[in-house]
Amino acid sequence: MTSNLEKIDLLKVPKHIGIIMDGNGRWAKKRFMPRPMGHREGAKRVIDIVEAAYNINVKSLSLYAFSTENWKRPEDEINALEDLLIKYIKSQLDRIVKNGVRINLCGDYKAFPIPVQKEIERALKETEQNDKMILNIALNYGSHMEIINACKNISQDVLRDKISVSSIEERLFEKYLYTNDQAPIDLLIRPGGEKRISNFMLYQLAYAEFYFTDILWPDFTKEKFYEAIVEYQNRNRRYGGL
Ligand code: FPP
Repeated sequence: MTSNLEKIDLLKVPKHIGIIMDGNGRWAKKRFMPRPMGHREGAKRVIDIVEAAYNINVKSLSLYAFSTENWKRPEDEINALEDLLIKYIKSQLDRIVKNGVRINLCGDYKAFPIPVQKEIERALKETEQNDKMILNIALNYGSHMEIINACKNISQDVLRDKISVSSIEERLFEKYLYTNDQAPIDLLIRPGGEKRISNFMLYQLAYAEFYFTDILWPDFTKEKFYEAIVEYQNRNRRYGGL
């Protein structure tokens, strides 16, 4: 059987892929395990999919790891997610640095406990010069908040005479988003069966192709990821034209 990887046209790989990682809880429940076990398995897929994206030369990968709404979850589950993030950085940062990947944090990570903030800041600092691929990690992220904050910061810059109102156009506005001057999202993947965007990068998704699948995130292998890209490449993107 040929792998989906061989079917990918490497000259037409999406520049920016977004993923809403969903279904960890249900994956664990199906196995009579506590929900944090699903997140632990999900974190292994984060490693696999970052590798897969890197190998086919995706320039930006945006992963939704924690939304502004996720604070409603039980405390032990939030703690487990925080522990996983620290573990992920501690175990992967050297490889990430060596491979030229830059970590970019999207969201207000200052809401997390100090040890989590420290690890995040170490990751940001050690990778800031890298440019082979950008790994956007959305943490305590919500798109409405991101857009509102962009408006506030633009207004401040107008008031301080740093920019003029007439200079506010798309390229300038985008610089005030967490994704700064990265390409817009070409492909959004959402495993876990739900068909919604859940306040994820609404601006950046304007012309994205959507790929929904019932597969739960911990079961989303590299092969499934490549399958999504093959399907993306078979779609006809018209951007409003004919
Ligand atoms: C959604 O599944 C998943 C999350 C809220 C967290 C995603 C986090 C990880 C994959 C692990 C850590 C991340 C990094 C970057 C190392 P869910 O709990 O909503 O699943 P359910 O819908 O089945 O309940």
